[in-house]
Amino acid sequence: MKMHRAEEVWLIIGVAILVISMAITGYQAFALDMGTPSGLETIDPQKVDETAPFDKPGVYKTGDNEYEVVMTLQIFSFTPMDIEIPAGAKVTFVMTSKDVVHGFQVAGTNLNAMVTPGHIQRATQKFDEAGEYLVLCNEYCGAGHQMMSTTITVK
Ligand code: CUA
Repeated sequence: MKMHRAEEVWLIIGVAILVISMAITGYQAFALDMGTPSGLETIDPQKVDETAPFDKPGVYKTGDNEYEVVMTLQIFSFTPMDIEIPAGAKVTFVMTSKDVVHGFQVAGTNLNAMVTPGHIQRATQKFDEAGEYLVLCNEYCGAGHQMMSTTITVK
């Protein structure tokens, strides 16, 4: 059986697009390290308080206007609360959950991470504009979920 010429051409185009897409995705994920970052680092959720760096949650200066925020999430709060950082700071949040799945969303930025017990989640954001940023848990985590919020003040 002979294939129609146009059918052949479209089949080749289709397969070519598929192969090119897979090559690009694979290159980004593995060569450029743009794959999903979650779940790579693990932690015993029962021992968060005794495990570094989470035994000392807080805001740490790590470089010239670079900060690291070591944060635990638990029903229904963020530790530390009410973070203050200078404008222009590049902040890396290192987070884990002590109980159930929580969310870490910073309104007005692209920061939006799921924080699960047993895993360490990292997210970096530069805060150029001064102001008060609302931090919300966006994963339903129980009766007090809607009260789980804090702020990041940039000044
Ligand atoms: Cu924590 Cu919802």
